[in-house]
Amino acid sequence: MKNFNQDLAICANKIELALEKALKFESLNEPFEAPQKLINAMRYGSLDGGKRLRPFLTQKTAEIFDIDPNKSIGAGLAVEMVHCYSLIHDDLPAMDDDDLRRGKPSLHKAFDEATAILAGDNLLNLAFETLANWEGYSPLMRNRLIVELAKGAGSGGMIGGQIFDLEGENKTLNQDEISTISAMKTGALIVASIRMGAVIGGADKDELLTLSNYGKLAGQAFQLADDILDETATKEQMGKATGKDKEKGKSTLISLIGLKEAQNQLEKIVQQAIISLEDFDEKADGLRAVVKYFGERKN
Ligand code: IPE
Ligand code: IPE
Ligand code: MG
Ligand code: MG
Ligand code: MG
Repeated sequence: MKNFNQDLAICANKIELALEKALKFESLNEPFEAPQKLINAMRYGSLDGGKRLRPFLTQKTAEIFDIDPNKSIGAGLAVEMVHCYSLIHDDLPAMDDDDLRRGKPSLHKAFDEATAILAGDNLLNLAFETLANWEGYSPLMRNRLIVELAKGAGSGGMIGGQIFDLEGENKTLNQDEISTISAMKTGALIVASIRMGAVIGGADKDELLTLSNYGKLAGQAFQLADDILDETATKEQMGKATGKDKEKGKSTLISLIGLKEAQNQLEKIVQQAIISLEDFDEKADGLRAVVKYFGERKN
């Protein structure tokens, strides 16, 4: 078996190439030529950076069902576009007001706020157009994938979570409230990435349920690690500002129970996620490795 880092790097490279291609807009038959500034901004906000973990989750889930990685790329590409848009908007002054992302100035710093808003909007459009047109999937599968992605990104998922996250600033939230925000703003897109892989793999109802449950735990682990790293890592390591949650008055598990206990919780959640896959044989080792990495990651 390839080692984890190589495997992730191969997936990241495929996503990079697929993004490059999609951002040429060639196959879309646009009625007018797109403004070059918009294309440049979309490229800036999505290419050359990012761990590409959501497409990797889609791929690793589909692999449980013996699906070739080249088949999960369309869904992975779409979810990465949504993720990149979410980061562009998350950094805006009206939201987290962050000047650094993926080791370079945030999009609104490199361009301007209006362009960042519109480039984010159009990455979202492009994600759904990409899925709706993806030739490797049947029309029915495209439809199911679109619904999964829309749900993960929408009011009961990422966008809803971003609202709660901002509303929660400078308030002391309890553990339930903190975990709901994390499950929505971050977990939902992670669950969608996994469910999309399961849809491509033809998972049955029970398998879908098991994988969704794994996804919820993985999402929780992912955001908790992000919050821990915000407290403990450097901006060079992360490619984004750290110490921001405190500065912005965000309630996290760390502000509530302290760093040490939060780290213990993270280890527990990772173990639960690994155990949650026990109905699958070694074909789910890929997903086990991903959540283990979520617990140990350094950037
Ligand atoms: C950062 O996500 C935003 C969160 C949901 C915490 P990632 O850590 O996956 O960001 P990139 O894509 O690698 O930059
Ligand atoms: C981000 O959470 C969740 C998103 C939907 C983008 P954070 O605001 O903690 O992510 P970072 O730390 O800015 O990457
Ligand atoms: Mg945020
Ligand atoms: Mg942020
Ligand atoms: Mg953060």
